[in-house]
Amino acid sequence: MKNSDYRRLQTRLGSDRLRERLQFQARLAVKLYTIGGLSMFHPHNAKRFHALLKLFFQSCGVFRKGQKNCLDYRLERVRVQLENLPPAFQGFRILQLSDLHADGMVDAGLNLRNRLKGISCDICVITGDFRFDTHSEYLSAMTISKNIVSEMQAQYGVVGVLGNHDFIEFVPELEAAGIQMLLNESIRIEKHGQSLFLAGIDDYHMYKCHDLDKALSGRKKHETSLLLSHTPEIYFQAEKAGIDYCLCGHTHGGQICLPWRIPIISNASCPRRYASGSWRYKKMRGYTSRGTGSSGLAVRYCCPPEITLHILS
Ligand SMILES: [Fe+2]
Repeated sequence: MKNSDYRRLQTRLGSDRLRERLQFQARLAVKLYTIGGLSMFHPHNAKRFHALLKLFFQSCGVFRKGQKNCLDYRLERVRVQLENLPPAFQGFRILQLSDLHADGMVDAGLNLRNRLKGISCDICVITGDFRFDTHSEYLSAMTISKNIVSEMQAQYGVVGVLGNHDFIEFVPELEAAGIQMLLNESIRIEKHGQSLFLAGIDDYHMYKCHDLDKALSGRKKHETSLLLSHTPEIYFQAEKAGIDYCLCGHTHGGQICLPWRIPIISNASCPRRYASGSWRYKKMRGYTSRGTGSSGLAVRYCCPPEITLHILS
């Protein structure tokens, strides 16, 4: 990334947040050259764990089925009733993809691209995690993500936020591909003289570089507000800040689940009711995608990947 790109990101994210993010990213990269001890979060140990898991599923004869399940995209249509929704936005359709983990897709995104061709919407949103790993090279993740985004056609464009698998260096690449990335920023969607406020925050789960106050700074009083957050763990602060609808991902709905979609782990520090599908916290509504891609080991059981179409009313 060029120096001028870093300077632009510094202006948008703020010096402190950018420094914190870069330092965290550097620490992640350094881990690749160290011994992990017993920590499950060390990349070498995580890789060993996933190799063992793969062996287990292979010996049970279900590994290929698990890989195939990753391509079984389900279109989830979600009706969202919002109080005070401006009449111009009745029936407004938001297409959400989340957790692409694009370079881990077993078919390099081909099935997903075909699936997206027939879906019409007003705006597309991507709630973070473009890359498979949390570290390592990202060229193929960017290339596949760009190919997927090229199939997303919407009058109000494509908007995204970063997840915990994403480096800040992705931003210029993704923006060149036509995704408007929200780094604790917002946009206003205007239709027939009425507006909807859409904010997006940087990753809360791992980087902690979110700044909700900054993201909401341009909001008008009583404006209907939507928030893009990689993780639902922000639910408490988001409700307090007066968000009407919060769109999230990160949990993958568990990805490897017990029957009836019961997750074994959700990888989020929040109650399980916020880990998948529609939810409500006090006055705020929310939705957590099961994810469009898969991470760790690219298999899914009892938890199909999703493309979500939110229809406001
Ligand atoms: Fe993810």
